[in-house]
Amino acid sequence: MSALLELKNISAGYDDKTILQGVNLQVNPKDFVGIIGPNGGGKTTLLKVLLELLPPFDGKVIKQTGLRIGYLPQINSIDKKFPISVKEVILSGQLSKSLWNKKHEKTSNKVDELLKFVGLEKYKHSAIGDLSGGQMQRVFLCRALISNPHLLILDEPNTYVDKTFEANLYNLLGDLNKDMAILLVSHDVGTIASMVKTIACVNGGLHYHASNKITNEVLKSYNCPIEIISHGTIPHRVLKDHKHE
Ligand SMILES: Nc1ncnc2c1ncn2[C@@H]1O[C@H](COP(=O)(O)OP(=O)(O)O)[C@@H](O)[C@H]1O
Ligand SMILES: [Mg+2]
Repeated sequence: MSALLELKNISAGYDDKTILQGVNLQVNPKDFVGIIGPNGGGKTTLLKVLLELLPPFDGKVIKQTGLRIGYLPQINSIDKKFPISVKEVILSGQLSKSLWNKKHEKTSNKVDELLKFVGLEKYKHSAIGDLSGGQMQRVFLCRALISNPHLLILDEPNTYVDKTFEANLYNLLGDLNKDMAILLVSHDVGTIASMVKTIACVNGGLHYHASNKITNEVLKSYNCPIEIISHGTIPHRVLKDHKHE
């Protein structure tokens, strides 16, 4: 099986400020990669390069022909006045208008199906700005899934999501991973370690670990004094005192 997507020796950043350097990454079908790293380490920047929203200073992004990517962006601030309905947000994840025209009926069913899945069916015609942060994040997850992607990219999907839905979300991702590759960015190392297959640490560069075990080596490249103590099936996380500047 050939790679879905490959980054080759990428350096990237903004204006003349380099954020990422010498980044290599290969994403294969059925991969489930957890991307961790300190705040400001370049995780979101890496995703933007992957999605070709940010042209790299150097290096190459190689994609399999016809690759469909679903993207749930990191939600920082929410514009409550954005005049668009929940249904419209989800449909905006469609690849092109022609596809939407041809598959209108099918797509409409899919919107219902996805909304039911995230427990928001009654909000279909609500304005997106009327929803809570967690609900909005679920709508954006539907948006990422509407095109039936080969690769699903999630940037901090659990920022606003409440604890009950968070468990659902992780079950859901496990199911989705049977059909698609997933890249999941999270600063919550302990939680994602139990569900992903491999881990990439992003902190200026990218360190790839071909397993989901949080070893000392992983923690060293994470560059934070974190200790993980495993207790049965529940990972416990202990943070020593430390500062990010
Ligand atoms: N649009 C931008 N213009 C300039 N600098 C940016 C921009 N977006 C992010 N940065 C900077 O790039 C660095 C990496 O940010 P980011 O990729 O968002 O990190 P992370 O997602 O790991 O928290 C930070 O120092 C941030 O301030
Ligand atoms: Mg980020």
